Order: sequence, then structure tokens, then C-alpha cells
Amino acid sequence: MSAKQLSELIGQLLGEKPSVPYLPKEFRQRIETLLQRFQSRDRLQSFYMHYSLRMTEATYQRLHQPAPGPDEQILEQFLARLQPYPEASQEFAQGSVDPASSLRRAETVHRHLQGRGRVLALGDDDATGLALSLLGDYQIQVIDIDERIIAWLAAMGLPGEVHDLRELPDSYSGAYDAVITDPPRDLELAGEFLQAALRCLAPGGLLFWADHPDWNQAALTLLERAQRQGLELLEEHSNWHCYVPHVISDATAHHFRIPPGWFHELVKYARLWSHLYVLRDTRAGGISRRRASHDE
Ligand SMILES: C[S@@+](CC[C@H](N)C(=O)[O-])C[C@H]1O[C@@H](n2cnc3c(N)ncnc32)[C@H](O)[C@@H]1O
Repeated sequence: MSAKQLSELIGQLLGEKPSVPYLPKEFRQRIETLLQRFQSRDRLQSFYMHYSLRMTEATYQRLHQPAPGPDEQILEQFLARLQPYPEASQEFAQGSVDPASSLRRAETVHRHLQGRGRVLALGDDDATGLALSLLGDYQIQVIDIDERIIAWLAAMGLPGEVHDLRELPDSYSGAYDAVITDPPRDLELAGEFLQAALRCLAPGGLLFWADHPDWNQAALTLLERAQRQGLELLEEHSNWHCYVPHVISDATAHHFRIPPGWFHELVKYARLWSHLYVLRDTRAGGISRRRASHDE
């Protein structure tokens, strides 16, 4: 990530050659100008262009105001345990966050659960389960459709099972105080992740859901659906997780008459971001009732 390179790239689209990086406010104004300029009837191309610009803006703001945490010492422990990530599979919509983001997510879970509880990671190419295991006495279970992810986690000492979350055994129903997931960025498959989470949560349980409305056009629909089905939105942590982007198809550059090389440069310096939404299951019972039953 580099303020200078990002300023030069954004300046290039506006015919400017900034000799020093823009101030965050100046950068935001230029992104707004470009969002206005790159409008099209082709909704898909508009989406790709706007998503690239908005994620670039999020990157720039995070350069100037980094996300809080995570704890440096625990991050070192996490990095010491973390083995190289399996190559991301497009078939399973994989795209890992960086280790600091995994730990930041785990720290948010830990703040809510206060050291113990049964936690399910629905898909875990981020190793959030491993990060959480460093923070407290949690019973962590991971399921993933990709056997390479389960083998990778097992090699780091984390329990898991290979399952498609659309076909989970009954033993998962209502069994978890918290479910953590970073779902794919589309309505249909992410909807399946939501259904699985709803099924696995114990009464009063917490869902930790990573998504971003500028990245996933269905993000707000999914959040509304979650709330209609009895989840209450407790917290939203903006731009909490950082991912390395892929190059946008040259078709978007051609559509907006931008040199295709511009996007190739952009992915070297910009990042993708997702928010972390924390939701509580209000369908029946409450967390205090479950805690009481743990204490018995
Ligand atoms: C969906 S991916 C993360 C995607 C990331 N947020 C993105 O859009 O780039 C998270 C994990 O879910 C797993 N996964 C994908 N589809 C699944 C399914 N049907 N059942 C279980 N796990 C699945 C992947 O293997 C991966 O480890």
C-alpha cells in the first residue's frame, strides 16, 4: 500500500500529477469526482469501476487511520503458528484476509465471548479459528468444503471437518455460541452461508459476518434478511479485514476507455476491505440463559 502510488494513479485519471500524496480529504474528493464521471448503463461495468474506486478510497483512508489492534505479541504467536496458506481456489470463492485481519476478527469474537464458548467457523481459509484459539479456552470447530483447508488447519492443531455447509449433519443444529464466517460475495451462495449460520447458532448466539456493500451488491439485502429472520445487528466495524485484490477484467478498462495497465498497477497498491458485522440471535432464549446452563 502506498499513498504516493495511489495518488499518482488517481491523479492520472484526472490529468493531475501530484508531486506529494493527496491529503485524505483531497483523495476522497477525487474519488467522488471519478464516481460521477464513470457512470454507465452497463450496470456490471459500473459496479466493477465503482467497487475499484471505493476500495481504493478505503485503502487510502486506512493508510492514514489504521484499523485498531491487533495485539502485537499475540500477532507474533499467530504468525509463528501459521503455515503457508493453500493456494486460493476460485471454485470455492476463496480469498484470505491478512493475518492481522484474522486476529482482529478473532479479538472481536473474544471480546464478546470473554474467554470461552463453542465456536463454529463456517469456512476458514483465514485461519480465524487458529487466531481465536490463542485468545481463550474455546471449543472451536471448523467446517470447510475444501479438504486442503481442513488439512492445513489440522497441521496447525485445529479441529475441523470437510462438509458442504448446505448439507451439515443434525449434530450442528443449535450447537454453537458463536458462528464466524466470511461468505462469498453473491446473494445465492452467501444466502446459504446465512442459512447454515442460523441453523447452527444456539439461542442467543452471536454471528460474526464479514461483508461490504461496495464489494458485494447483495450485502445489504443479506443483512436485512438476517434481521428479518431474527438476528439483531449489534455492531458494525468498518473496513476491518484486508484482502489482496485480483486484476479487474480488461473489459472494464475498455468500457471506460482507461488503459488496461491502470488496473494492473492499481492492484499492486490498493486492497479490498470487508466490514465485520456482529449480530445476535434473538429467536428464542438469550445468551444469559445459555451462560447459566454452562455454569451449572
Ligand atoms: C467463501 S470463502 C471467503 C471468500 C472471501 N470473502 C471472498 O469473497 O474473497 C471462505 C471459506 O468458505 C469455504 N467454502 C466455500 N463454499 C463452501 C461451502 N459450500 N461449504 C463449506 N465451506 C465453503 C471456502 O473454502 C473458504 O475456505
